[in-house]
Amino acid sequence: MPAEPTSAQAETSANGGSSQPASAPAALRIFSGIQPTGDKHLGNYIGAIRQYVAGQDRGDALYCIVDLHALTVAHDPDVLRRSVYDLTALLVAAGLDAARCLLFRQSDVPEHTELSWMLCCLTEVGRLQRMHQFRDKSVAQRELVNAGVLFYPVLQAADVLAYRAHEVPVGEDQREHLELMRDVARRFNSRFGGSREVLVVPEHRIPEVGARIMDLQEPTRKMSTTGGTEEGTVYVLDEPAVIERKIRRAVTDSGAGIVRGPDKPGVSNLIEIMAVARGCAPADVETQMASARGYGDLKAAVAQATVEMLAPIRDRYAELRADERALEAILGAGAQRARGIAAATLADVRQCIGVGAVSGASSATIDTVSA
Ligand code: TYM
Repeated sequence: MPAEPTSAQAETSANGGSSQPASAPAALRIFSGIQPTGDKHLGNYIGAIRQYVAGQDRGDALYCIVDLHALTVAHDPDVLRRSVYDLTALLVAAGLDAARCLLFRQSDVPEHTELSWMLCCLTEVGRLQRMHQFRDKSVAQRELVNAGVLFYPVLQAADVLAYRAHEVPVGEDQREHLELMRDVARRFNSRFGGSREVLVVPEHRIPEVGARIMDLQEPTRKMSTTGGTEEGTVYVLDEPAVIERKIRRAVTDSGAGIVRGPDKPGVSNLIEIMAVARGCAPADVETQMASARGYGDLKAAVAQATVEMLAPIRDRYAELRADERALEAILGAGAQRARGIAAATLADVRQCIGVGAVSGASSATIDTVSA
């Protein structure tokens, strides 16, 4: 439990559930979401999870396991439930601390779906149909392209806007989704906000290095749970020997120079991974590797640095994952606080767009019905 409430938590207790208009948070508020589907890989870790951990020291951080987004692909209900615990344990093992951030499950906060519907009514279908991820996924899911795949980015916008977050740490592949959410927030404010910024227009935070980690076997494609190669995907929980093997077999490029370049996607990817794992700039890696005998040396160094980066997470994971009650307690407490913040935003949004009871009238209505 937190010793000191963060200002996100303070707002929860001050405004939670009230129908008074809430204003934008004063402190930097950070929000991100991550899907509980499949095992998390090095791309997720480098592009996103590392940033989540750092965000805890930069502002009020909220992180959401987006189980409702995961419904857009065929799934087994029991597996989905377990996957939420897998991911909770992984995030805590990676350094998320329930005393310094809110970690919660999307489906525990129904305000996300309510706001999503309202935002759907401000979003052009054509724009959603043109989005890259929709086009890619609708080709991949030839049998059933459900409407959830199309509206996925609107729910994502609602996730962030419900908290009036300023900053969204993500990998490069989420850039287009962030643009949509910014446009939807602006549209909402100009249509319904009068002179107020009812919804905060968030900024993305995409890391300079490691924003797009590539598949080790097909370095022109991003590392991905769906659609990548198994041998080219390093999972956060892979055993050290497996990580070493996958990196040793990484596809490199012709020529022996250990330098980045558009014609060297495999080597550039390895250099970026090593830079992140060693906490230095890619140019430093190039300098350090200048006297290497070839790609074999580079791969050995990248493998060692990656194993060292991921080993502490793997070490902590098993114990955390074994205690589902503790994981549920983290998610439950996070959701309760998150809901207080989102409820205040939604009360404001309802007032602005003219749905629901007029501010302050809702409890009187409930009394009348129950009498
Ligand atoms: P998801 O679960 O696919 O990915 C989680 C995060 O990992 C990043 N990422 C990568 N970064 C670098 N290299 C890669 N190869 C790589 N692959 C994935 C993603 O950019 C992401 O930040 N739509 C989101 C989930 C979401 C969300 C949100 C994110 C739902 N609501 C609100 C931010 C805010 C997604 O599918 O992430």
